[in-house]
Amino acid sequence: MPVVVIIGGQWGDEGKGKIVDLLAEKACYTVRFSGGDNAGHTVVNQFGEFKLHLTPSGIFHQTCTAVIGNGAAVNPAVLLRELSELKRSGVDTSHLLISRRAHVIMPYHILFDRLEEKGRGEQAIGTTQKGIGPAFADKVARLGIRVGDLLDHDVFYRRLKQVIEHKNTILTKVYGAEPLSVDEVYRTYIEYGKELEPFVQDTEVIIADAIRAGKMVLLEGAQGSLLDPDFGTYPYVTSSSPTIGGAILGSGIAPAAITACLGVFKAYATRVGSGPMPTELKDETGDFIRKRAQEYGATTGRPRRCGWFDAVAGRFTTCINGFTGIALTRLDVLDVLPAIKVCVAYELQGQRLKHFPSNSETLSRCQPVYEEFQGWLAPTSGIRRLADLPLKAKRYVEGLEELLGCRMDIISVGASREQTIMVR
Ligand code: GDP
Ligand code: IMO
Ligand code: MG
Repeated sequence: MPVVVIIGGQWGDEGKGKIVDLLAEKACYTVRFSGGDNAGHTVVNQFGEFKLHLTPSGIFHQTCTAVIGNGAAVNPAVLLRELSELKRSGVDTSHLLISRRAHVIMPYHILFDRLEEKGRGEQAIGTTQKGIGPAFADKVARLGIRVGDLLDHDVFYRRLKQVIEHKNTILTKVYGAEPLSVDEVYRTYIEYGKELEPFVQDTEVIIADAIRAGKMVLLEGAQGSLLDPDFGTYPYVTSSSPTIGGAILGSGIAPAAITACLGVFKAYATRVGSGPMPTELKDETGDFIRKRAQEYGATTGRPRRCGWFDAVAGRFTTCINGFTGIALTRLDVLDVLPAIKVCVAYELQGQRLKHFPSNSETLSRCQPVYEEFQGWLAPTSGIRRLADLPLKAKRYVEGLEELLGCRMDIISVGASREQTIMVR
């Protein structure tokens, strides 16, 4: 049975939540493997509309165990709030599992995220201020608190005391901020631990057993490949890996078990936060797309920067992830545009660039070279079969397939589960 990884091919918000909710119907497990509540995954189904930050998007299917894997970072307050909201909407959340190894977002992570962003001044990354960067930095600095630690009160207290003393030195001496109280944080997080305990497991072993038993497993990417700390527009990136490598590391799945890697792309481009975006439209067309598509961040509400599809960046993310297929979302947003552009190359000082540049300074100086496609000027949101797409829409889709060097598996023409064309 398939083990399918679902990965954002752009700068996040490609519609991964919708695609995972759709595919989870047949899956036994859905695993979030990276990021934290910086993610906002919108799911629209029979229960309503949800913007999930931590809960895997497979939660709506009773038969699909939703796993927060070892590679994710958990803010317990956010997760508990999300679970009670889901329950209020009639969604059973008892089939959630949280890895004992997942790191916990602590109050000082959020404080440092804010203070560090402020300190960056004009070079601020535009983080979601959820404490993600500081939490993953602590993970590799061996200063992290893991979900399993919250369940062992003595171990947790000793560890927390050591870490908070260290953090308080920086808070007070570098930032002139108020120190945190070890006892207060301890009491709050012990309570969180009690509430989370029923869900906490060695999920890596459970997933491995499921794969051995031939069950279908979905791995739900957060963020997008161009926000990857290695392959993205560094330093304007996030702090855990949203790409295929992160899927393996963040779930404990062996690479050879993966049978497909689906790249989710929206039919144009968006980005939230700072950093280069060669096809950004700072004009009325960009404003028009933002308004029509309601391109505002699911986590922070910030307006998303909108632009044309960037096939140079897309080819790069297809290559590094080894996408075996593409899920193209939001095609319907383009229904009303008479002409649609796609960036097919970059130009830098009169030279054509063959590859996606490795540094943000170079990328920010690149000029996009566009190919223009004719708009189809017809509604697509009611279409369910590829054959019924307007000819010009089909040409656009085929053009993207050719530019990315990858076949379309799914075309999404609306936010809800059923507004989907299953190509394969
Ligand atoms: P994610 O973070 O990748 O899950 O994406 P977000 O949820 O942040 O943003 C995607 C937005 O597009 C959400 O508002 C979805 O409801 C919406 N969406 C997903 N697929 C489609 C589609 O095919 N058409 C339209 N119009 N909206 C879509
Ligand atoms: P989903 O899963 C879009 C962006 C932030 C910022 C940068 C670093 O919904 O696609 P961070 O808080 O991670 O340190 O911020 O990454 N970012 C996202 N942009 N979608 C997301 O998640 C994002 N998660 C982080 O805007 O530019
Ligand atoms: Mg999102």
